[in-house]
Amino acid sequence: MQIVITCFFILGCFAPCMFGRSMVGIQSTSYNVVNYGAHGNGESDDSQAILSAWKEACGTEGTSTLVIPQNRVFMVKNINLSGPCKATSIHMQLEGKIVAPQKNEWTNYLKVDDESSLISISDVNGLRIDGNGEINGFGSAWWKCPSCQRPKVISFQNCNDLRVSYLSIIDSPRAHVAIDGCSNAVFSNINIHAPANSPNTDGFDICASKYITIQDSIIGTGDDCIAINGGSSFINATGIACGPGHGISVGSLGKNGVHDTVEQVYVRNCSFTNTQNGARIKTWQGGSGYARKITFEKITLTKAFNPIIIDQNYGYDDFESDAVEVSEVTFRGFEGTSGDEKAIDLSCHSPVFINVILEL
Ligand SMILES: *[C@@H]1O[C@H](CO)[C@@H](O)[C@H](O)[C@H]1NC(C)=O
Ligand SMILES: *[C@@H]1O[C@H](CO)[C@@H](O)[C@H](O)[C@H]1NC(C)=O
Ligand SMILES: *[C@@H]1O[C@H](CO)[C@@H](O)[C@H](O)[C@H]1NC(C)=O
Repeated sequence: MQIVITCFFILGCFAPCMFGRSMVGIQSTSYNVVNYGAHGNGESDDSQAILSAWKEACGTEGTSTLVIPQNRVFMVKNINLSGPCKATSIHMQLEGKIVAPQKNEWTNYLKVDDESSLISISDVNGLRIDGNGEINGFGSAWWKCPSCQRPKVISFQNCNDLRVSYLSIIDSPRAHVAIDGCSNAVFSNINIHAPANSPNTDGFDICASKYITIQDSIIGTGDDCIAINGGSSFINATGIACGPGHGISVGSLGKNGVHDTVEQVYVRNCSFTNTQNGARIKTWQGGSGYARKITFEKITLTKAFNPIIIDQNYGYDDFESDAVEVSEVTFRGFEGTSGDEKAIDLSCHSPVFINVILEL
């Protein structure tokens, strides 16, 4: 009886307030790229139209919406959607498809390198992207040269309070999503797909970022489903179905003798199917820094090779050198099948390797 009365009371009090707010308080100005000249026919270059609409959305006070409508295909060349923005939050309703140009049609094609992205979003806070859209990087022409520099599909640099959901990203020339220097981001219901033999096509590449959550997503690529690189902390991956791919990896850290740190990583309720690795930590010899407070738990494996692997000797063969310290690592609740007889592979650099807890 008490509960019923309480509910009634709360509704009675708040319902009119919420109604009032939506009527007068929150205004969101909407910018549809089609109104800025985007053709959406899959062939015309829609970069300028999307950039113009972005500038309006970014320059609006309060909240704004950028609409990339459904049932259309927008071809863009490498574009920079950059801030800082006047808008306190921007909602990108990505309902249609965005596709990359032919390989040699990228802007400044000869200057496109590993740091380039089809869509580069930088210095934007409070961005939300959703809408069941798709971005296709048309990577196959690029994969033919595995040693060449190749661009990513989408990168987020210095973006805080980011929410990305219900998005498919397909066939990136290199990593699909790069997260660099960001804080407080949630990626959910993301579908990433590239062939098992496509080179360096990481699903997510996280670097120098904190408080990043990747959840309820399907990632199948030719490299790491998620790679957690130097300068990252408080990274959570939950409900990820990974495969094919190289697993969920911390590192590689300490390449070329650099000082790298990663801590507070939680990987939970994830599955690895036909992957080259499951839970992996890889550090180069000669580096310094640490990878610590890392937990992998409730992991289901189906024909995954190297279900658990720590490789502190990635790269050079110099056992006298420094190493990145690996500590406070927990593997708990692993079940399923390995691709071969070896389930656990610990290749340690003994003087600095301490304290791994295994609870299988
Ligand atoms: C995007 O920004 C990067 C870094 O500021 C710059 O190097 C690149 O040329 C820009 N790309 C385009 C297409 O403007
Ligand atoms: C990550 O998971 C840990 C352990 O469950 C939790 O304490 C923490 O709040 C989570 N972090 C984020 C950013 O969601
Ligand atoms: C996460 O857990 C739920 C509930 O146990 C399960 O149905 C789901 O398959 C799990 N996801 C993955 C990717 O393992």
